[in-house]
Amino acid sequence: MAHIYDLAPEVAPYVDGRLSGDRVKFPDTDVFRSMNKPSRIEGDVFDLEFSGTIPKDINGTFYRIQPDHRFPPLFEDDIHFNGDGSVTAIRIRDGHADFKQRYVHTERYKLETAARRSLFGRYRNPYTDNESVRGVIRTASNTNITFWRGMLLATKEDGPPYAMDPVTLETIGRYDFEGQILAPTFTAHPKFDPDTGEMLCFAYEAGGNGSDCSVDVAVWTIDADGVKTEEAWYKAPFAGMIHDCGVSKNYMVLPLTPIKMDLDRMKRGGNKFAWDPQEDQWYGLVPRRGGKPEDIRWFRADNGMCSGRTESCVRLLAFFLIFPFFSFPSFIYNVIYIYIYIYLKELHLTYFSQASTAILPAATRTRTATWWSTSPSPTATSSSGSRRTARTRARSRSATSSAARRAAGRWTPRPRRTRASRRRWCGRPTASSRASTTAS
Ligand SMILES: [Fe+2]
Repeated sequence: MAHIYDLAPEVAPYVDGRLSGDRVKFPDTDVFRSMNKPSRIEGDVFDLEFSGTIPKDINGTFYRIQPDHRFPPLFEDDIHFNGDGSVTAIRIRDGHADFKQRYVHTERYKLETAARRSLFGRYRNPYTDNESVRGVIRTASNTNITFWRGMLLATKEDGPPYAMDPVTLETIGRYDFEGQILAPTFTAHPKFDPDTGEMLCFAYEAGGNGSDCSVDVAVWTIDADGVKTEEAWYKAPFAGMIHDCGVSKNYMVLPLTPIKMDLDRMKRGGNKFAWDPQEDQWYGLVPRRGGKPEDIRWFRADNGMCSGRTESCVRLLAFFLIFPFFSFPSFIYNVIYIYIYIYLKELHLTYFSQASTAILPAATRTRTATWWSTSPSPTATSSSGSRRTARTRARSRSATSSAARRAAGRWTPRPRRTRASRRRWCGRPTASSRASTTAS
């Protein structure tokens, strides 16, 4: 008798790295293997089994969001961050916990469900999509879940937020803040001012269609009543990723990472982003009130990845601004740093952080968001005097070359550096991070 595999032989789901046929079989790569295997589950579990004891006075909901590919990707080398947004709610009450999980039903989700296969191609590259989805909002809404005025907002920085019902996890639809924010992109990491209840948010690649590598950066403030009170537009020195932000009472810090977009590469079917080892890490400092295009001030640090943890970026900025004031002997530089120090005094360097998970009080329908997570002000860490001096000199050189490039009206890559000068403040790039694709 023939074995079943003789009658129905295994067929490779990918040919030359591209999905072949309509069979549901995920790539055999680390992105989809073992614990990374997509769950693809929407469902409920009433009364979870758990270890230990849940205190009776805990009454609220824990929310989580994750990328979870619903269908095998079009490209075998796809990345985790290209997965569909999947939201989990664990409702805790009276010592019991109930589980609920739903996908964010985006336009992408609906169309791919109807087709029973992936239609959207490489991460944030519409030139690799199926022709049938040209012009459709591509976002998978998979990066952060935020409570806002009775809704959950599922966000990913390549598209608008999608609103969800916090109780049922039903997707309500694209959310544009009642028509007040129409940019094609929106940050996955808005911040909330605990004093005023305002949402502080931004978008990069915001000026065009959201996939054209524009250098436009928008910053908004939405007050606690949902009214947009501030909007300012700025230009970045290059089309790169601004994944997160830091916020103080008067300023917002926008970390522009040297992960650059390339429209020509996208049109050739390649990756949207690639690490540029010759580019600096930049920080755009903008006022929270009355910002104008000319108000943005850019600070630069050595090439390094500093995005996912804004805390690190703010610490870095504090270190850059404070330490030379005390250590560098030059009068000129002290004058410069006194000027910056005045800025810093106003900046306070406090920040409001929020993880991609949140505990929501039981009264999820109220408009009062009481679950802000605030952190203490970061303080500069110590370093040896010799290293400080070397870094200070390196910065003075970079400031000069930066000014020269600005005067020349062009933003050219800096000369290749030595290994020693590439010391990272926020971690060294690895071979894989240099390779190209990254981040959400
Ligand atoms: Fe993030």
